[in-house]
Amino acid sequence: QSNQFCDAGVGYPESTCGFSSSSSSKLLIKGGTVLNAHQQEVADVYVEDGIIVAVKPNIKVDEDVTLLDATGKYVMPGGIDPHTHLAMEFMGTETIDDFFSGQAAALAGGTTMHIDFVIPVNGSLVAGFEAYKKKAKKSCMNYGFHMAITKWDESVSREMEIMVKEKGINSFKFFMAYKGSLMISDELLLQGLERCKSLGALAMVHAENGDAVFEGQKRMIDLGITGPEGHALSRPPVLEGEATARAIRLAKFVNTPLYVVHVMSIDAMEEIARARKSGQKVIGEPVVSGLVLNDSGLWDPDFVTAAKYVMSPPIRESGHDKALQAALSTGVLQLVGTDHCTFNSTQKAFGIDDFRKIPNGVNGIEERMHLVWDTMVESGQISVTDFVRITSTECARIFNIYPRKGAILVGSDADIIIFNPNSSFEISASMHHSRTDTNVYDGRKGKGKVEVTIVGGRVVWQDNELKVVPGSGKYIEMPPFSYLFNGIDKADAKYLSSLQAPVKRYFTAS
Ligand code: URP
Ligand code: ZN
Ligand code: ZN
Ligand code: ZN
Repeated sequence: QSNQFCDAGVGYPESTCGFSSSSSSKLLIKGGTVLNAHQQEVADVYVEDGIIVAVKPNIKVDEDVTLLDATGKYVMPGGIDPHTHLAMEFMGTETIDDFFSGQAAALAGGTTMHIDFVIPVNGSLVAGFEAYKKKAKKSCMNYGFHMAITKWDESVSREMEIMVKEKGINSFKFFMAYKGSLMISDELLLQGLERCKSLGALAMVHAENGDAVFEGQKRMIDLGITGPEGHALSRPPVLEGEATARAIRLAKFVNTPLYVVHVMSIDAMEEIARARKSGQKVIGEPVVSGLVLNDSGLWDPDFVTAAKYVMSPPIRESGHDKALQAALSTGVLQLVGTDHCTFNSTQKAFGIDDFRKIPNGVNGIEERMHLVWDTMVESGQISVTDFVRITSTECARIFNIYPRKGAILVGSDADIIIFNPNSSFEISASMHHSRTDTNVYDGRKGKGKVEVTIVGGRVVWQDNELKVVPGSGKYIEMPPFSYLFNGIDKADAKYLSSLQAPVKRYFTAS
């Protein structure tokens, strides 16, 4: 069997399709070049019971240890995807990849952890968390949760504290778009930013002006533009730039760190660049689709082809892609996600007569590592150690799980990939591991190949075959107050004293 996982389809038998996956819990990866964000070195990596216990040259071991030869290859931390939607109910349907199929695809592409967005149930965070816990029961890799905030009252505020202190969630997402469903007001965003700050949780925004998008959509429909291209035309970059600027300024007003998800345009990127230059703690996350695609597919006369590219914010016209790559290579943007949110052709066809009904989302969880390598490293824009930083380490730092994740260090979890820079990859909808029937990267080829994926010390991807066990995945709790919060209290104190001095002068003068 070639590039499909063994128990594809329904039912998930509790077997591993005949594999006794890495029969020993001891593993030695020999002779590779170990890549970390901070350095590269030729060394062996020795793993016991899911933990890295030694990283040094010429490690000698007993016979019961499974050997993997990595000579001439890179050994690096498994990818961490900060932005996915598995089993998400959205726009009247549910994403076709769940916590098993999406994760299987991820592992085949060298990603060993993802962070998914819990959507509250009737505004309740606790109910949302319970629902996602259930969805995630079939997991086969590491996962964590962000939580969306979709309304505001005392109970939401209280539940945010429960999420942070008891449930291992340290980030909350605010949708400034999707009017009528997930969208929040500026008033709510402000309250949410204040609450995030007090809890040491990271505020994340989907930055598009949802009111203006709504108007833009009406404009297109009035003009008779109902096809997928209308989606992009109705929500141009200026609306992403506006919302990004607004969120950044509100975060500055509150003095709390901000994370802008799926930065798709020069407009948004330049707002982030400006804020960072001024010293503000703003993180910008481009996604693979924004980095390597342009909007040309949206104009394909074939609906199925065009609709597969519909996501929000939209994939922009050529030029934005290169600018986002440059921003990533210079540190203006810090890490790469996917926004993996798959709907098949049947689901996409809900919007055959009206682009507003096309479920928004594209694939990418399996393709991210290969496409980022090919686009950023092979083109000479970043180093191999930078690759580790933007696909794994920086995500682990931002969400406060470094160096347990995001590093090949003694004591770190053994989530490891062996990457062959001299091999090659090819992407196709028929060979990928996602359940969806299309792929926005269909036909792409490039240099480099994830040959082995190890998660929690178990080899789960080798020789183009997956050995995944539903239910073997691990929920990773993420503690609050990441490094982004360092110095926030000092800045607050400075601001207060800067206010008090002139006020005191004013009162003593009068
Ligand atoms: O089109 C997208 N991005 N779908 C997923 C939901 C979101 O906005 O992240
Ligand atoms: Zn098999
Ligand atoms: Zn979004
Ligand atoms: Zn998303």
